[in-house]
Amino acid sequence: MSSVVQELIVELGERSYPIRIGDSLLGRSNLNEWVAGDRVMIVTNTTVAPLYLAQTRASFPGKVTDTVVLPDGEAYKNWETLNLIFDDLLQHQHSRKTTLVALGGGVVGDMTGFAAACYQRGVAFIQIPTTLLSQVDSSVGGKTGINHPLGKNMIGAFHQPAGVLIDTDTLQTLPPREVSAGLAEVIKYGLIRDPEFLGWLEEHVEELVGLDPAALTEAIYRSCLCKADVVAQDEREGGLRAILNLGHTFGHAIETHAGYGNWLHGEAVGAGMLMAVDLSVRLGWLSLQDQERARSLIIRAGLPEAPPRDMTPDRFMSLMAVDKKNVDGALRLVLLQRIGGATVTSEFAGAALNETLMAFCR
Ligand code: NAD
Ligand code: GLY
Repeated sequence: MSSVVQELIVELGERSYPIRIGDSLLGRSNLNEWVAGDRVMIVTNTTVAPLYLAQTRASFPGKVTDTVVLPDGEAYKNWETLNLIFDDLLQHQHSRKTTLVALGGGVVGDMTGFAAACYQRGVAFIQIPTTLLSQVDSSVGGKTGINHPLGKNMIGAFHQPAGVLIDTDTLQTLPPREVSAGLAEVIKYGLIRDPEFLGWLEEHVEELVGLDPAALTEAIYRSCLCKADVVAQDEREGGLRAILNLGHTFGHAIETHAGYGNWLHGEAVGAGMLMAVDLSVRLGWLSLQDQERARSLIIRAGLPEAPPRDMTPDRFMSLMAVDKKNVDGALRLVLLQRIGGATVTSEFAGAALNETLMAFCR
């Protein structure tokens, strides 16, 4: 057990909030400081509730605590499931002073945050992320939302939490495939902004796969630091924040093609990042050695290095056409000018993109 608690602040003026990271935090934290009124609604799902709901309830001593348990899965990140949260809030007569608590992975976090953004035009919420992906990415930065059958995360709002509590112990129950999926987003930070961190990951990736608490705390802290810095500079993705989407344009196409939930988000991002790296090599920005570093790390993290076998270049192009980063019909991609130096651009030769798609579609 590492027993080190790290804390950092997402600096957003009056919407600033802390991220607290360490082991054994859930059992021994009093989170009332992040609660606006005297009522709390914990939103979780059927998988996480039996594991961590009791400890979470105990983190709000003296508060009236209700619970809504959603079905588990990306396939439920939709209007119907979102409405279950509103049903419970209204049935239990929660007011504008209520605080929602997201206990679970990114699906629960995104839906709870969106419910908090909408309920009575906006109430407070707390993130208690329990997957590696949600601890290093989705719980930080205030993007909330749901999927539409025609596009992922297409309906949502920016709504920042009051605080984020990351207990690395929760990762001990996470299936290995989900751990690898989270590592894709961790590797992303090294690739887009922090070459030193990428080097650290090359030394420690096996410890992370093996869920070593000290290594996890360090990797989560450095990931959150990177994300908090980007979000503080560009909360609503006017520019810089889009670099956090390295590999996501290709990845979202993979997820939509495979059907939500069949490829994990992080798995799709892992393969998608290698496609972005490949295109960056073809543009002369990255070297073949850089490409091999990225590929090796993705493989060591237990992630797929290529999209599903039945995807074609045409399928990629039609799915990528609905990406949120696109402007006036022009496809925009996050690419790497160097390791640690990402750019968002539509200025790449179509022929180079086609070569990348051909190389990855088997
Ligand atoms: P997820 O929420 O589906 O969780 C993965 C699985 O792990 C689920 O079955 C879940 O119930 C289970 N689980 C959660 N915690 C567990 C634990 N401690 N032990 C055992 N099982 C546990 O998936 P995810 O990877 O956490 O999140 C993916 C979602 O996050 C996607 O919808 C994606 O779009 C979204 N996302 C959002 C942002 C953002 O900025 N808002 C960023 C990245 C991803
Ligand atoms: N995951 C991308 C973002 O938060 O902007």
